[in-house]
Amino acid sequence: MKTKSILGVLVSGRGSNLQSIIDSIDSGQIAAEIGIVLSDNKGALALERADKAGIPTMFIDPGEFYDKKLYEQKLIDVLEESAVNLVILAGFMRLLSSHFIRYYQNQIMNIHPSLLPSFPGLDAQQQALKAGVKVSGCTVHFVNEGIDTGPIILQEAVPVKDNDTVDSLASRILEREHVIYPRAISLYCEGKLIIKDNRVRIIGK
Ligand code: GRF
Repeated sequence: MKTKSILGVLVSGRGSNLQSIIDSIDSGQIAAEIGIVLSDNKGALALERADKAGIPTMFIDPGEFYDKKLYEQKLIDVLEESAVNLVILAGFMRLLSSHFIRYYQNQIMNIHPSLLPSFPGLDAQQQALKAGVKVSGCTVHFVNEGIDTGPIILQEAVPVKDNDTVDSLASRILEREHVIYPRAISLYCEGKLIIKDNRVRIIGK
């Protein structure tokens, strides 16, 4: 039997995806626990959400480290202390280097507010509006060393409306993020995700 997953969630801001994960664990949809929530932003609302749920949190100030590798090593040390075996990026606004990514090979997930490989990087919703696409959406993927290029786990499409603003599109996408991120995490925790040749196969699907 697979050992119970312990999640380490990395955040920088509002934490609505973190909240959806907390709620999905509470409801029994995800068979895992959150070992720790780490933030690079002291004022992140996500930290308050975790506190409220009784989850340990830590603010680690990147400014206190001489370079990125030392900062990431600190993240790894803290995640290790909490016995984390799946790292969840939930609005973490920092690019992780190969030092961190290789350490947690195929054990880091991210959610991105577009249908990758379209519109990677920052301001995905704005990129979608600018490109005039009629459909956008969200993607949960494993993190590799590229920017939003890792093996795709789940995607969901969302219509783009003629009168959409960045905010209206972002909130329509966000609603679906809160559904597919917990679902992807749950599949991982049940041992149902197999990665081969940059593709993810979901067992039993
Ligand atoms: C979400 O749009 C997510 O797709 C992106 O960052 C945002 C985080 O929002 N990676 P929240 O902090 O989870 O509310």
